[in-house]
Amino acid sequence: MKPRVMAVDDDEKNLALLSAKLEREGYEVVTARNGIEALAKVRLTPPDLILMDVMMPQMDGYEALRQLKSREDTRYIPVIMLTGRAEVEDKVLGFEVGAEDYIQKPYSLQEVSARVKSLLRMRALQTKLRETEKMAALGEMVDGIAHEVRNPLTAIGGLARRLFEGTADPQHKAYTQSILKYVQRLERMLQRIDEYKRILVSTPSRGELNPLVSAAVKDIREFIEGTGKDIALQERLMPDPPPVMMDYGNLKIALFNILQNSVEAIEKKGEIRVETTPEFDQTVAIKISDTGVGMTQDEIRKIFNPFQTSKFEGAGLGLTISYRIVHDHGGEIDVESRKGEGTTVTIRLHPAKSAEEPKRI
Ligand SMILES: Nc1ncnc2c1ncn2[C@@H]1O[C@H](COP(=O)(O)OP(=O)(O)OP(=O)(O)O)[C@@H](O)[C@H]1O
Ligand SMILES: [Mg+2]
Repeated sequence: MKPRVMAVDDDEKNLALLSAKLEREGYEVVTARNGIEALAKVRLTPPDLILMDVMMPQMDGYEALRQLKSREDTRYIPVIMLTGRAEVEDKVLGFEVGAEDYIQKPYSLQEVSARVKSLLRMRALQTKLRETEKMAALGEMVDGIAHEVRNPLTAIGGLARRLFEGTADPQHKAYTQSILKYVQRLERMLQRIDEYKRILVSTPSRGELNPLVSAAVKDIREFIEGTGKDIALQERLMPDPPPVMMDYGNLKIALFNILQNSVEAIEKKGEIRVETTPEFDQTVAIKISDTGVGMTQDEIRKIFNPFQTSKFEGAGLGLTISYRIVHDHGGEIDVESRKGEGTTVTIRLHPAKSAEEPKRI
């Protein structure tokens, strides 16, 4: 989307020149001829930056600036004041009222455009930094809570198991079994939190897909054994797939989570097929199909949303995490499913460029 810049000046000629220059530079331009018009338009179509003349009829630039900076919803829009009055007091007044920058008339359009560009870049960086800081703080808090919950949870699980084994009363057995199920559910949530933390850092290097797929299949085989289900697991790997840039550990988490869903979609007996195949668009696909319960179109639409789950033991985060991992790898993930028939999840990854160096993603 183009950044939107508002130019405010009562001089038609100045305004036309300024607008033409900014449009040539790729900005969407909104114009206003005085402070009142500017304030009204800011509310309708909030700009990313405002260039504001000082001397204007009806409401001058300082008054408009003061009003913009006193309102919560417009306070953070950067404003560059344009003025012919070069007195030092004017500059001071502009900065006191909250202008981010100041350009003296007569100005060169080149200079205006350079300052607009640099201010917009700075603002984008500040916004990103604020978001990163917020995310980091939130992550730390979640991590702290997970840590505090883990130990008591282990104790509750251990004690419930002893109670279960030590009692002959069927009612008490049922109660303790319930406690154990809730404990498992919380443990799964904690595991997802750990995974989520892991995927925030990703270190890709050139790697082969087939060994990664085989490793995930091996893990899921163990998982299937624990469930007691009768599931035939087939692996069909293409010979010599091109290498891809990948974070092995993270991509394996993505595959495991998808495979785990397939196992859980099969009630007692079924089939899961895992393939790697070349695709027509030069990508390599990993396809995971199951003969499980399947989903309706409506259900498919929601599965990547966090906390979306149809399972008692589910955290609803497995696919949210997988989606994020695949996208961090520059790939795509697709889901096809039919209620009552089964589901196929396809991950498409781009082969590594021949000279591609490891980089952080
Ligand atoms: N292969 C599948 N077949 C049928 N339904 C599926 C399949 N994969 C995902 N789903 C549906 O999508 C939902 C979300 O999946 P997701 O893996 O994100 O969460 P979850 O499995 O419920 O919990 P967890 O975070 O513990 O993995 C599931 O609860 C299930 O309803
Ligand atoms: Mg899952």
